[in-house]
Amino acid sequence: KQCRLIGVPVQDGAGRPGCEMGPSAFRAAGIASAIRDLGHAVDDLGNIAPRPTASKPHGNGTVKCLPEVAGWTSSLAEAAYSAFDAEDAFPVCLGGDHSLAAGSLTGLARRAAERQREFFVLWLDAHPDLHTLDTTRSGNLHGVPMAYATGQAGFEGYFPPAAARIRPENVCMLGIRSVDPAEQRILEGAGITVYDMRAIDEHGVVPLLRDFLARVAAANGHLHVSLDVDFLDPAIAPGVGTTVPGGATFREAHLVMEMLHDSGLVGSVDLVELNPFLDERGRTAILMVDLLASLLGRRVLDYPTRSF
Ligand code: ARG
Ligand code: MN
Ligand code: MN
Ligand code: MN
Repeated sequence: KQCRLIGVPVQDGAGRPGCEMGPSAFRAAGIASAIRDLGHAVDDLGNIAPRPTASKPHGNGTVKCLPEVAGWTSSLAEAAYSAFDAEDAFPVCLGGDHSLAAGSLTGLARRAAERQREFFVLWLDAHPDLHTLDTTRSGNLHGVPMAYATGQAGFEGYFPPAAARIRPENVCMLGIRSVDPAEQRILEGAGITVYDMRAIDEHGVVPLLRDFLARVAAANGHLHVSLDVDFLDPAIAPGVGTTVPGGATFREAHLVMEMLHDSGLVGSVDLVELNPFLDERGRTAILMVDLLASLLGRRVLDYPTRSF
């Protein structure tokens, strides 16, 4: 694969500062050499900057940093589209908070549509991030990217027109355990597949993921993986602003990555919500890099444990 690292130091979508240091922490944790050691090529494209964007003030006065997040969305949609310039190009967006998925999903899906490839998303997160600008209560725009990318109403004139739209039927969420009432209502009619932590407890990740991967394979689709640090249990991944107890374990998370590798279906990734200011001696950054390496072919049992 030709991995293309895109640093997206956005923190305007999160409730607390620190995510802007995420791309640097991933680099310090050795992300490029971890990928190269697996035999892939790596181009680090550096960090992008937000495109200055005018956005009218929103009637929901709780919404924070709307022009800034609109600007990041616009520049990442373009950068992700450009980086996905060949079938074997493998864009990896280094966050930055999860608002960046508004840009990565739409920019990458635009390229897939040009190639007439159906675009699928595996959303690994404690949260569905399915608020609209009207429903968000916190006003933190890392809570809205999935609504924007799937074409929920109310973003017109505030966010850039979406470069492409994701079909909700092509989205699978795994690890969900914190859903606001407004998100619940959107989820009910949306057609998104949602596997919450209860489903993981009851069945394990294997049958859940196997069903979804079979659907992607049957459509010869492109699979994008959006990995939010808070998918993981806070005990193993403290470097995030929105910890929710009861997340995926080390072994569950690696098993997901190993199954994704074996499927051969993944063509792009977001690594988001890493907050190095809240991390402990880089352990969350290192775990995220190790998970990406599993997704790209490292077999964890072959690999010595790293110390931190
Ligand atoms: N649903 C909550 C909110 O809208 C939490 C969102 C957390 N999102 C995230 N990407 N960490 O504020
Ligand atoms: Mn190259
Ligand atoms: Mn998220
Ligand atoms: Mn989350």
